[in-house]
Amino acid sequence: MPQAPGAAMTAQKKLYIKTYGCQMNVYDSERMAEALGAEGYVPTDRAEEADMILLNTCHIREKASEKVYSELGRLRPLKDAKPDLKVGIAGCVAQAEGTEIMARAPVVDLVVGPQSYHRLPAMERAVRGGARAVDTDFPEEDKFTELKARPKAKRGPTAFLTVQEGCDKFCAFCVVPYTRGAEVSRPADRIEAETRGLVEQGVREITLLGQNVNAWHGMEGGLGALVRRLARIEGLARIRYTTSHPNDMDDALIAAHGEEAKLMPYLHLPVQSGSDRILKAMNRKHGRDAYLALVERIRAARPDILLTSDFIVGFPGETESDFEDTLDLVRQVRYGASFSFKYSPRPGTPAAERGAQVPAEVMDERLQRLQALITELQREAQEAMVGREVEVLFEKPGRLPGQMVGKSGQLHAVHADAPESLRGEVRRVRITASGPNSLAGTLAA
Ligand code: 5AD
Ligand code: SF4
Repeated sequence: MPQAPGAAMTAQKKLYIKTYGCQMNVYDSERMAEALGAEGYVPTDRAEEADMILLNTCHIREKASEKVYSELGRLRPLKDAKPDLKVGIAGCVAQAEGTEIMARAPVVDLVVGPQSYHRLPAMERAVRGGARAVDTDFPEEDKFTELKARPKAKRGPTAFLTVQEGCDKFCAFCVVPYTRGAEVSRPADRIEAETRGLVEQGVREITLLGQNVNAWHGMEGGLGALVRRLARIEGLARIRYTTSHPNDMDDALIAAHGEEAKLMPYLHLPVQSGSDRILKAMNRKHGRDAYLALVERIRAARPDILLTSDFIVGFPGETESDFEDTLDLVRQVRYGASFSFKYSPRPGTPAAERGAQVPAEVMDERLQRLQALITELQREAQEAMVGREVEVLFEKPGRLPGQMVGKSGQLHAVHADAPESLRGEVRRVRITASGPNSLAGTLAA
């Protein structure tokens, strides 16, 4: 008997998503896959067999759109071979340059911004019908309310959960306030319901995400209160959050680090520069001493907390002496790890309009020096763990047979001989060795 048109076809459709940039994009990609899952798409990790390819893009540093165009160039032959293939651009490049991409790249069928991807199913139907679709609105409705409930498949032990989006800080170098819009907090009840759902699916650790996650204000007491509320969920073993702005680290959140055992001793607290002059030029709205005093308060609450940061070298006007202030701050805080970037002028941001751009070779040289220091401190932080016992949440098999790998509270990757049955379990591990990017240990008795 002939099948109803579309029935067999919808079951066959495959979706390939390539995710660039931050963890919030990883979360968005998951939600986009789920939204299209309701339209009959199943995920694939092979672009060649996809019926739809989505590039979930990042606009934070330069060459973002060049990367998108060169990826589109690589996709061209796939589309020539399979004219039914639909190609979409999502994320922050879509938001910032969507209309231009649509005009320049005929291979693109749809463009969807980070605040409107709940409309993907309708857009997908439109492009299947031969249309091209662009949606980069900041819509009235909240995409999280509009998206269907998350499917109930079994999941791995860790998950991301976006609780806050957007940024009102307007650092002089940053495109985020323009691409992601104003700060918005998701309501606590919804976050709790989503967390409970994830825990039922096997998740033991959640990382709460936001461009300014600690500016979350969905309930009295802010993020600290939310952490305490989620910590009461049985079966949830660990809570993390990222990324935080120093000015939003309030007393309640700092206290939660000292008192809430499920809140992990790890904090990504970007400072960007150690020079007061540059911090001011960056519009970071705090100075070096205030940051160092904050670090002291956090460490007083939770002495074993591992701190990490982001740094920009070569911000317009940065002198050798400003840069040395940054190196000095890094030594003083003794970060366990950090990311460092060369300043890249982003169109539309105040810093991009300024003179006094630092020459490329000076930036290269500063970046190397900073990265060497960060690596040295990272190695020291890891070596300090040798001989100690840490709790590890095992996530997946390691490289060697019989081995599992997981994360410590301080987010160090830890390898240990352990049965696969320990996946999703927290166990004490005695650390025996430190490698370049991970620790090794044995299960404690
Ligand atoms: N140039 C270089 N680095 C940047 N970042 C944000 N904007 C820029 C830029 N224009 C870095 C900051 C931020 C991280 C996510 O990216 O360090 O914390
Ligand atoms: Fe960008 Fe600054 Fe906002 Fe972070 S706080 S997203 S760096 S504007």
